[in-house]
Formats: sequence, structure tokens, C-alpha cells
Amino acid sequence: MSKKIRLGILGGGGDSLIGVLHRIASFMNDNYQIVGAVFNPDFNANVDFAKEIDIPTNRVYKDFDTLIVEELKLPKEERIQVCTILTPNFLHFPMAKKLLENGFHVICEKPMTTTYEEAIILQETLKKAGTIFAVTYTYTGYPMVRQMREMIKDGALGTIQKVDVRYYQGWLNPIVHEKAKRSTTWRLDPEKAGLSCCMGDIGVHAFNMIEYTTGMQVKSLLADLNYLYEDNKMDIDGTALIRFNTNAKGVIRASQIATGEENGLAITIYGNKGGFRWEQENPNHLYVMSDDKPMQVYKPGHAYNSDLSLNGTKLPPGHPEGIFDSMANIYLGVAKAIRGEKYNDGEFPTMLDGVRGLSFIQSCIDSHNDGNTWIDIK
Ligand SMILES: NC(=O)c1ccc[n+]([C@@H]2O[C@H](COP(=O)([O-])OP(=O)(O)OC[C@H]3O[C@@H](n4cnc5c(N)ncnc54)[C@H](O)[C@@H]3O)[C@@H](O)[C@H]2O)c1
Repeated sequence: MSKKIRLGILGGGGDSLIGVLHRIASFMNDNYQIVGAVFNPDFNANVDFAKEIDIPTNRVYKDFDTLIVEELKLPKEERIQVCTILTPNFLHFPMAKKLLENGFHVICEKPMTTTYEEAIILQETLKKAGTIFAVTYTYTGYPMVRQMREMIKDGALGTIQKVDVRYYQGWLNPIVHEKAKRSTTWRLDPEKAGLSCCMGDIGVHAFNMIEYTTGMQVKSLLADLNYLYEDNKMDIDGTALIRFNTNAKGVIRASQIATGEENGLAITIYGNKGGFRWEQENPNHLYVMSDDKPMQVYKPGHAYNSDLSLNGTKLPPGHPEGIFDSMANIYLGVAKAIRGEKYNDGEFPTMLDGVRGLSFIQSCIDSHNDGNTWIDIK
């Protein structure tokens, strides 16, 4: 019998953006085998897609409830062990909750839920279930992001005093200016996307990147969001000033109407001894700055990197790895956890990161609606 972890996929069909990233990432380290799925709410499209990617169709189900019922009938050694949730946001909570209640491990896309209240309920559900839960903040899997985390932990930057994260995309620009178009994307529909579009979709990545790399928790924020049109119910651009428990402060700048921008996530972190600069579109270069030396460039795969970073490279230096590898590193960490093997807590984001994300999103909305006031993050 295969030693691979039996993976189920919810969403992520041929019509989706993120499905291919998860499928390829799950294969990359030879740990998972897709054995069941509901790729799409339309059963025919579901089966057609399974055939297209050569997955046996006998465990492709008409909907998520059927998947759970039918999988539970199978002997444990055949049953799906972990399900990945890649649907629009509003389905994350009901799917994750029911999966946990029935003993499955879960890998869930961000934002973990559509409200903070749901996130707390899910956290309680996980406590009772005792299974593994990961949230795919994709960028935490990059070797150079992991290197920042480990170097900051080792004191390389000294005391952190300023953080600036920018996440600029332009994909909504051709959509948002036409009423008919802006009413057809699920990300601008609060019923499907949740509290927020821009902060919920990409601001939350920026927020997680700060907490993941610095190891510090953001304490409070003041947000100013932009909706651009009266009838648009969702933020499509925004800025959040942030404060930590220490004297450190920072800013999160996020936009989906930054015309011409692609996936421009960039973080700069400044401590009293040094600084880091890292950009997602150039992920294999980590710029290390100081007052008294020329700027250094750290790159993946070299022995000078931390174990956590080296663990995330498969090839020698100079063989560029990218976003598929970054997601694959998260899947690798989850595989270790499922198998009860030792792993570094930086190998995959957890329920706590999911809850913090929803707290951030809720705080941005509350701060903006309250007239741009400072809000403590729960
Ligand atoms: N981690 C990242 O960097 C990242 C990037 C993009 C998207 N995402 C997240 O991934 C999720 C999906 O985003 P996307 O851009 O792929 O969306 P999408 O609209 O492109 O795809 C959604 C998929 O879910 C399927 N689906 C819808 N309802 C379903 C149901 N009831 N049962 C099963 N499948 C169903 C659709 O058929 C489609 O295949 C979102 O939560 C999004 O925030 C994360």
C-alpha cells in the first residue's frame, strides 16, 4: 500500500486560480496522493476535471457533505486523511468545521473564515478534534522568508523598530470601474468573500508576513480603506498604521487597484542593528542592510542559511525555485505533522495565524468605519 498521505481537495477546479498551485505543491515532495475531491459544485464539471488530470472518478463526489459521508464508510487506511479547502471564502468555515468534527486534518486557504466569530468557533472545534490544521499563507514557505524569521530570532537585526509591508496588485482595475463587471466577481460580494476584499485577500498576507518574520504580535491599528464607488460594498485598497507592544511601529499598504502591478508583495524590516528587504516577485534575493557595511544579498541553498530555510530548498544554489516550491514547503511541514515527525513551528501557519488574520481584517473594517480610529487587535 502507498505510504503517501491521502489528500482530498475541495474547490480548486479547472476554472480556479489557486487549484493548480496546491495540486503541484502537494506532489512536489512525494508525500501526498489525491484520492478524493469536490473540485466544482457542478458534478459533470467535477468529473470531467478529474478525468482531465487523471484522478480516479469513483471518489469524486457531488458535494462536500457527500464526501464526508462516503469517506467515513471507508476503512481508515483508505479514507482521506487531510482535506485542502480551495473554495471561495464563505465555504471555508462550514467545510473546515465539519471536517474537523469528523476527524480529518485540514489545510485551508486564507482568509480562514469570513468573520472573527467563525474563526474563534473553528479554533474551539480544533481543540476538541486534536487534528492538524494549516492555513496556507503561501509566502511563509519561501526559503528567504524563513531565513528572515530565523535571523530575527537570532538577533541579527537587534530590536525591531519599523516595519513596512506593501502588497500592490492591479487586477481589479479593469473590473471595478464598470458596474456590471464589479457585481460579478465573488471577491466584491460580502456574502461570498466576507468582511473585506483587499484587506481580507492580500492585506492579511502582509499582516501574517509581519508576524511570521518578526515573531512579534501587532497590538493595534488604524486603517483607512478605499471603496472607490458608493455601490461597491468592499474595500479595494487601504492603508493600516500598526503598533506593537514595544516602541516599534509600521505600516501595511495594500491595493488591488494599483494599475499595472502584478503580485507586488514587499517587506522591509528595520532593527537598531540592521534591516531586511524582500520582494515576492524576486523571492530568491534577501537584502541585508546595516549602517557600516555594504548591502549583502542572501540566496537560498547556501550553507550560511538556517536549517528552516535550507529545509525549503530542493536543489543547489542557483537553481531558482518559486511559488510552487514555497507552497510545497508548507505541504511538507503539514506532512511531517500528520506523520507525527519532528518539525519546526515555522514550517506551516496554524489555526492561531488564521485567527490573527481574521482579527486583523475585522479591526481594519472597525477602524475605518469608526472614522479611522485606533483599534486593539484581539
Ligand atoms: N494563498 C494565496 O496566495 C491565495 C491566492 C489566491 C487565492 N487564494 C484563496 O483561495 C481560495 C480560492 O480562490 P481562487 O482564486 O482559486 O477562486 P476561484 O473563484 O478561481 O476558484 C474557486 C473554486 O472553487 C470551486 N467551488 C465553488 N463552490 C464550490 C463548492 N460548493 N464545492 C466545491 N467547489 C466549489 C469553483 O468551482 C472553483 O473551482 C480563496 O479563499 C482565496 O482567498 C489564496
